[in-house]
Amino acid sequence: MSDTEVSSENRGQWSSRWGFILAAAGGAVGLGNIWKFPYITGENGGGYFVLMYLVFILLIGLPIMVAEVLVGRTTQKSPAGAFRSMSKAGSPWILAGWLGVLTGFIILSYYSVVAGWALHYTWFSFTQGFTGMDADAIGSAFGTLYADTSTNVFWHLIFMLLTIGVILGGIQRGVERAARILMPVLLLMLLVLLGLAIFSDGFGRALDFVFKPDFSKVTSAGVLEALGHSFFTLSLGMGAMITYGSYLKKKEDLVAASGMITILDTVIALIACMVLFPITFSFGLEPEGGPGLVFVNLPIAFSQLAGGVFWSTLFFALLVLAALTSAISLLEVVVSTVIDEFKWSRPMATLFCGGAITLFGLPSALSGSEDSFFGNGFKDHSAFLFDGETGKNWFDTFDHLASNWLLPIGGLLIALFVSWRVSDNAREEAFKSGSRFARWYWNWLFLLRFIVPIGILSVILHKIGLI
Ligand code: PHE
Repeated sequence: MSDTEVSSENRGQWSSRWGFILAAAGGAVGLGNIWKFPYITGENGGGYFVLMYLVFILLIGLPIMVAEVLVGRTTQKSPAGAFRSMSKAGSPWILAGWLGVLTGFIILSYYSVVAGWALHYTWFSFTQGFTGMDADAIGSAFGTLYADTSTNVFWHLIFMLLTIGVILGGIQRGVERAARILMPVLLLMLLVLLGLAIFSDGFGRALDFVFKPDFSKVTSAGVLEALGHSFFTLSLGMGAMITYGSYLKKKEDLVAASGMITILDTVIALIACMVLFPITFSFGLEPEGGPGLVFVNLPIAFSQLAGGVFWSTLFFALLVLAALTSAISLLEVVVSTVIDEFKWSRPMATLFCGGAITLFGLPSALSGSEDSFFGNGFKDHSAFLFDGETGKNWFDTFDHLASNWLLPIGGLLIALFVSWRVSDNAREEAFKSGSRFARWYWNWLFLLRFIVPIGILSVILHKIGLI
């Protein structure tokens, strides 16, 4: 038995293909689906934006998803080791793996702060509720939370502790068990809320808004936003799917599994829209609410609804669960890399990495405060990143860096690596083994070789103002 076989046995494995699909879908379904997708759909005018997003998911997201899972399953390693073992000794490709680890580290540090808002809103919904508050009071409650450093730090710590707790449990007893419980609960909660939305007055208008493309609303910024979001929502470009794929048994059909994850993620994002927009329209609110769509519009609706306490607790608990399964996948990338590369034990690696990310997240938790250095003060220091515009606070700076730069670059690298560097035989065999979709091999390779790089490069070039 070779070394790699020994170590992959010790690394842990999913108990079944569904264990993998649920865990990976749990990683993909997160704040991106329930908080971000509806609000960027609202800002970009609905139907046409959704259509673009669906096209990108299919032509760019899905091929990269297959590529990542393929690399993980083939090498049975986390990103750095995976790139190393599929390229020549000393090859710089390993840096692509480390870039993913860095990206995961950064994203989790601020993701946890948004998840903290969801925790706070769950707690608030449950203990007090929005009933009796008027729209202004609800709007300013979000503003107050945003600026309140001690509350933000408190919930950030709680959320990181929850995430660390799951990762300490390992693959089957931690990550997979959490996903097996949380994902069905999440789906059920979402369907209950969808039931509420279907019977509201705004449902027909919301259907039109989300599914009827209005070509007068097309903007180039919207197209780019749709592309960027297709990475974020599928957790692509940072090795999360490489890592989860590395716990997959070699005989599993990776194309079918990737397709399933993509479908689950997309359907949940669309359902989230069909929960939010009917409620928004029914209460005469605007779909362009921005990041506050979830934290302001929904509470306004809940405040006027019979059973509002129940519905708002349910909704924000759902947001917490979705965020938790994603945070788990982010931390697992970092932890499994430290375990694989430095041979640390899981508990040591988890406590160390979890602790470091928690610390690195503290400035994000302080970013909403005007007085804090990381809030207003940081804008002077980050202005150079946003050519000419004013800078952003710590939180927004790192969010911008990770979602607009690191993820697309990571996605581009993995696509180029798998389609041009990995040997034909290894790639073809991995794609086809056990797959019902073997005959799609050439279509996939074509997308990965040409369409994906052209798509991503045009976004990057547009961002730096070249096209
Ligand atoms: N896909 C997650 C979401 O939609 C976010 C995420 C990005 C998680 C990258 C892991 C890696 O919220």
